[in-house]
Amino acid sequence: MKTIIILTGAGISAESGIRTFRDSDGLWEEYRIEDVATFDAWQRNPRLVLDFYNQRRRQLATVQPNAGHFALAQLEEKFKVHIITQNVDDLHERAGSSRILHLHGELTKVRSTVDDRLIYDIGYKDVNLGEHCEKGSQLRPHIVWFGEAVPNIEPAAKLTETADILLVIGTSLNVYPAAGLINYAPRHAPKYYIDPNAANVQHFHNLTVIKEKAGIALPKLVQDLMK
Ligand code: APR
Repeated sequence: MKTIIILTGAGISAESGIRTFRDSDGLWEEYRIEDVATFDAWQRNPRLVLDFYNQRRRQLATVQPNAGHFALAQLEEKFKVHIITQNVDDLHERAGSSRILHLHGELTKVRSTVDDRLIYDIGYKDVNLGEHCEKGSQLRPHIVWFGEAVPNIEPAAKLTETADILLVIGTSLNVYPAAGLINYAPRHAPKYYIDPNAANVQHFHNLTVIKEKAGIALPKLVQDLMK
């Protein structure tokens, strides 16, 4: 069975109604990263940071996976599939994909501020100041903020090395180390980059760029790959 490694970004969830970060209507047009998505922000104004992620979580409860997520789940009928996602939503899970590695954390989880191993599922509920882990420390979003280490990057790089086929979907490839993962894919492996505003990646060998929305392009591409 061939292995397909898939790197996804905010663009795959755009058609579900979740805003991307860097498009013209993106979240980073409305919020400043340094106010809501860094450890400094958390120390300065934890209420604002919790509120930002509470809003994201509430919205996530109201949206559904789209045709792109479902197409990727379907690939598992014929391939060994690993999804490496920069997204903190749970739409790949809800579409039925089974092997998903979250690089930047998960909205539906919170964790202790004194012990990284204490991670709790909270679903779509708010988390507020004064809510503590079992060791008595404030709970924080289970999110990798700018400037923080990306604990899953090593397993992600190892997985990418095993790719017979690589799909890169809906990401501006601006944020490292995630954007560097493509470099780990075997040179000969066919690579597909699906994004209406695909970044310049011409130097990759065996690369096909599909400048279309994920919800349109993926059902077609998946059908072709399954033939
Ligand atoms: N289908 C496919 N791609 C789309 C669609 C769509 N329907 N709509 C938008 N896109 C593309 C945009 O063209 C853009 O290239 O999705 C990409 C989104 O880019 P970003 O907003 O930069 O999101 P992403 O690359 O996932 O950001 C990486 O940055 O802020 C952090 O932690 C956050 O994980 C995130 C990381």
